[in-house]
Amino acid sequence: MGCDSVGIVGSGIMGSGIAETVIESGYPVILLSRTPESAKAMVNSIKGSFARKIEKRKKSTSQADEDLSRLICTNDIADLANCDLLIETVVEDIDVKMRVMKGLDEACKPSAIIATNTSTFPVIELAAATSRPDKVCGIHFFNPAQVMKLVEIVETLTVSQDTIQAATAFALSCNKEPVVVKDQAGFIVNALLFPYLNNAVKLLERGVASKENIDIAMKGGCGFPMGPFALLDLVGLDTALSILNSLYDEFKDPNFAPAPLLKRMVAAKLHGRKTKAGFYNY
Ligand code: 3HC
Repeated sequence: MGCDSVGIVGSGIMGSGIAETVIESGYPVILLSRTPESAKAMVNSIKGSFARKIEKRKKSTSQADEDLSRLICTNDIADLANCDLLIETVVEDIDVKMRVMKGLDEACKPSAIIATNTSTFPVIELAAATSRPDKVCGIHFFNPAQVMKLVEIVETLTVSQDTIQAATAFALSCNKEPVVVKDQAGFIVNALLFPYLNNAVKLLERGVASKENIDIAMKGGCGFPMGPFALLDLVGLDTALSILNSLYDEFKDPNFAPAPLLKRMVAAKLHGRKTKAGFYNY
């Protein structure tokens, strides 16, 4: 696949970070969002990020303008018809994702690759919602997508090697570090990271230490850039719960059974940075 244009579906934190990365890598991007308001919020967040880069002299104003000129927003899926690569980044809800995948399959040219950024669902289930399961894979970015180098390229039972190679080449062209991984819950990173995050919450529940001290310990003792509670707030507690539930469903390993405190905090809508309150206030 030569990739001349990229369609991104969803204008949340991940969609926004991915769009920023992709326009900076020189690709024209068409962003499909549910409402003009959400598209505007996303464009503003990219503009804010570019303004910080300009201030730090990491980008010129003319480069920022040029990058932004490659981003087009739409509410009409038909505008994605000619994209070579589609990346869906909508909410982690299987019904919504299935609907989006089916819609993309119907609207987009047959040669297009349709990728999902899901961190929770089996990619094969999303591939099976389309008529082109050989052209569906996971392209899993990490939060914040503008900064984190890793991209997991998720290989299903039905995807072709051409698709995997094209997705890998795309990630490299965005200055990312792709790794290919089989379609199992959690892929590599979340399968290893989320038992750790979950056990940090269990440690807190048992009163072993305060959240502040657990964060200090993991930063100072392991060299992690953030402690587990700061990271849970960044990822979103709702997302973390959904990842743990999918890991538990797949493996039935008690390490993946979500800590009760995490469930209660999600029920209380303490979702972390995005709701301005989680383990910490923002
Ligand atoms: N958006 C855009 N840029 C951001 C950012 C954000 N949210 N947060 C930080 N940055 C940029 C800063 O502007 C800065 O850029 P510069 O070096 O060019 O000036 C750079 O990142 C470093 O930021 P800071 O100096 O402000 O702060 P840190 O050095 O502490 O870095 C961090 C912030 C990159 C978020 C770092 O703390 C980190 O790497 N944390 C761990 C993040 C992580 O583990 N992510 C994976 C989560 S799991 C996941 O995503 C999977 C999914 O399926 C849930």
